[in-house]
Amino acid sequence: MRVFVTRLIPEAGLALLSKEAEVVVWPGPEDETPSKEEIIRGVRKADVLLCLLTEVIDRPVMEANPKLLGIANHAVGYNNIDVQIATELGLPVTHTPGVLTDTTADLAWSLILAVGRNIVQGHEYVKKGRFKIWGPKLLLGTDVSLGGSGRKKILGIIGFGRIGQAVFKRSKGFDMRVLVYDPFQKETIEQTEGVEYRELRELLRESDFITLHPSLSEKTRHLIGEREFSLMKPTAYLINAARGAVVDEKALKLALKQRKLAGAGLDVFEDEPALAPGLAELPNTVLLPHIGSATVETRDKMALMAAENIVNMSQNKIPANILNNEIFNRKGN
Ligand code: DGY
Repeated sequence: MRVFVTRLIPEAGLALLSKEAEVVVWPGPEDETPSKEEIIRGVRKADVLLCLLTEVIDRPVMEANPKLLGIANHAVGYNNIDVQIATELGLPVTHTPGVLTDTTADLAWSLILAVGRNIVQGHEYVKKGRFKIWGPKLLLGTDVSLGGSGRKKILGIIGFGRIGQAVFKRSKGFDMRVLVYDPFQKETIEQTEGVEYRELRELLRESDFITLHPSLSEKTRHLIGEREFSLMKPTAYLINAARGAVVDEKALKLALKQRKLAGAGLDVFEDEPALAPGLAELPNTVLLPHIGSATVETRDKMALMAAENIVNMSQNKIPANILNNEIFNRKGN
């Protein structure tokens, strides 16, 4: 079996794959992604494709090789792959759920604290040698827990899947009131002690910190745009560690500029790695290069999971993390 890997993944995954298959990694620079032609060329000579969230895997890629056995994504999000077409073509598609839940929830919390407490601004202030004297008004932020306000701060979680729930778990230590919007998880929300369901508009109106955790689909693309920003408190902060396109980034830039919200902590962008013009220049943002799952342990595990899914495919077994199980039902397996 031959596996085409679009970009270098952690050694743990490559080592497992190499025991079972010939592994061909796209030889380009580590900080670049192969062109569509290069992906197609790789797929033509491979049995399985292992790709990253940076590659668009659409019909031309999938149809490049009629003998392709399947596609393994090295990510939990799979908006880069047209799963519907894969299903139509009978191609199993896998992803890496669960392993990055805690890591990503930790990062969302890092952003909440960073925007609320001016952590990045403070860091820059010290590094640039501007810290001359302690000051009672220096870099004043806002409390995340009760703090001086004596009021429970309100955390609005949009998307209550694995990561949204892990973010909620962490909020308990901060003694917050938690509102949740997720029309697909109403039952889980009802059964979760300590969260209150809200429709989107109400959640936006009431929350002090709004954190986004839905997967990206046509239903959630630009879920947060101009109208939604106009509902937020001018003191509220927006956190996005899900997918950039959940937010209309141009509208966000404008809303931040007009102080319709106090700030934003973003790990993801609509047109990554490009930013909406002017976003980087705004003072009330913390911007990260999509590092939600970026720990050594988690990235190793993701690579291993992607490799295990491929081993399953090669053995004609249903992979553990399959997204389109229906193809196996159809085949009568
Ligand atoms: C994912 O897995 O979808 C993250 O965005 C990157 O690890």
